[in-house]
Parts: sequence; structure tokens; C-alpha cells
Amino acid sequence: GKVRAPTHIISTISDDRGDEPCYAGVPMSTIVQSGFGVGDVISLLWFKRSLPRYCTQFIEICIMLCADHGPCVSGAHNTIVTARAGKDLVSSLVSGLLTIGPRFGGAIDDAARYFKDAYEKGLTPYEFVEGMKKKGIRVPGIGHRIKSRDNRDKRVELLQKYAHTHFPSVKYMEYAVQVETYTLSKANNLVLNVDGAIGSLFLDLLAGSGMFSKQEIDEIVEIGYLNGLFVLARSIGLIGHTFDQKRLKQPLYRHPWEDVLYTK
Ligand code: ACO
Ligand code: LMR
Repeated sequence: GKVRAPTHIISTISDDRGDEPCYAGVPMSTIVQSGFGVGDVISLLWFKRSLPRYCTQFIEICIMLCADHGPCVSGAHNTIVTARAGKDLVSSLVSGLLTIGPRFGGAIDDAARYFKDAYEKGLTPYEFVEGMKKKGIRVPGIGHRIKSRDNRDKRVELLQKYAHTHFPSVKYMEYAVQVETYTLSKANNLVLNVDGAIGSLFLDLLAGSGMFSKQEIDEIVEIGYLNGLFVLARSIGLIGHTFDQKRLKQPLYRHPWEDVLYTK
């Protein structure tokens, strides 16, 4: 029989050896001719399957809504400072991306993990939130620096509205909203934030689409695919901030002394 030489790399998502590149077996020409969008490409390259239109549209809405949130947030601030230090596009971009993590933009996977676990264990919002407090863990997907009960995050409302109209079930999101109702009884800024909304709604997308086995959903949540949505989305804004600073010919940034409390 044939002897297969051992390979150093295994790859399952794309192939460029034929006449045209394929994403998860789908040729480039089909992608273009079928009018696929970036949501379809993400479905193929991340989830290795074509998802229904309402799912790919949801992915695209997440990307559009998270593309930027002004110059003051952690990521944009880093990018602006880096661009003003004369660094190139890639350096300015990654300097912003490096701020994405458990407090800023990168709480989506943990929100999905904790909401899923609490929902499946049948914990009441009280049991879940107080249990997290005992463990000294802030509930991922809850809380915001400027958003509050009276100044809701429009992005969260838009995502919820889309899912209510198009998803067969929004049970995880409804659980997250019950958690929010409880946390809002403790403090005004403990709203369901955009990370929490995407985390819970993506669980609904995965479970409701009928395209993923329970084991596949567990794997997606365990590996942590979902912060990728924020990383990808925010790259758009961070690249924009880099160009903006260069266009404006902004000088080296130095933080004002008056804004630092020098103390011993
Ligand atoms: N769960 C439980 N309690 C919380 C949470 C939370 N997620 N967030 C704040 N609190 C409570 C705490 O009791 C805190 O008191 P402590 O310092 O004694 O623990 C009190 O609120 C005050 O918190 P602040 O430090 O003033 O909150 P801040 O406004 O600085 O934090 C932040 C905002 C970082 C988003 C925070 O709420 C948090 O860590 N949330 C979880 C992570 C998260 O979801 N991040 C994504 C935000 S959205 C985005 O970045 C796109
Ligand atoms: C964001 O999307 O960057 C924000 O939600 C974070 C912030 O501090 O406003």
C-alpha cells in the first residue's frame, strides 16, 4: 500500500492548492457568485460550515457594532498614543489590541462560559451572582464604566432586538437579562454589557441553529472562539484611529503632570 510521509502541520479550514482557494471546501468563485458576506467567511473559517443567513447577519451586526467606541476606551487610547509615537500601522493596531481582555472587550467567552454553566445548573440569578461574589470573581458580561440603568447601551438593545426577531430561542439571553435585573438592584452601572449580550446570544445562536452538536458547542465555549468577534471588529476602529492620528499629524503624546497624583 501507499506509505504516507508524516507531516508537520495538520490544517482543516482552507486549501490553496487547486485552481482557486477554498474556505472549508467552498471555492472562492462560489463565495463571490453567491454574494457571501464577511459573516459567511467567518462561518467557514471559524466554524467550518455555512450557517443560515440570520446567523451570518448576526455575526456581521456584532462586527459592525463593536468596530469602534470612540477615542477614550482602552484600546483606542493605546493605539492613538502609539501612532503619535511615530509607530507604523501594525504596531499601532496591536498596541490597541493588547488591551482586549477580561475587563475590556475580552469578556465574551467568559460571559458565555459562566452564563451557560449557571443556566444549566438551574441557578437563580441570586445564587449565581452571590456565588461569584463569594469566589471573588466579577460576573463577566456585567458592568460598564459609562453605561447604566438610565443610559443603556444601544448596542445591547440592537442585538437583543435582532435576536428576538430572528432566533428560534433566546433562553440564554433571557437568563442574562434576569442576572442583569438582579445586579441592577445592587448598583446602577451593573448592566448587561455588549460582551455579555454577545456571549449569551451566541450561545442561543449555537444551540438554536441546529447546526452544532452539544459536544461542538462545549468545545467552542471551552476553546473560546467568541472574543475573536471583538478582536476582529475592534481592529477596524483601531486601524481608523491610526490613520486619523497620522492624517492629523499629531505630535508625540505626553500625559499632563496635572492629571497624575504623585504621592509617596
Ligand atoms: N460583577 C459583580 N460586581 C461588579 C461587577 C461585575 N461584573 N463590576 C463591578 N462590580 C461591582 C463590584 O462590587 C465593585 O466593587 P469592588 O471594587 O469592591 O469589587 C463595584 O461594582 C464598583 O466597580 P468599579 O470598579 O467601579 O467598576 P468599573 O466601573 O471600574 O468596572 C468593568 C467596569 C471593568 C466593566 C467591570 O464592571 C467588570 O469588570 N465587568 C466584568 C468584565 C466585563 O464584562 N468587561 C466588559 C465590559 S464591556 C467592553 O469592554 C466592551
Ligand atoms: C467599548 O466597546 O469599547 C466600550 O464598551 C468600553 C468603554 O469603556 O466604553
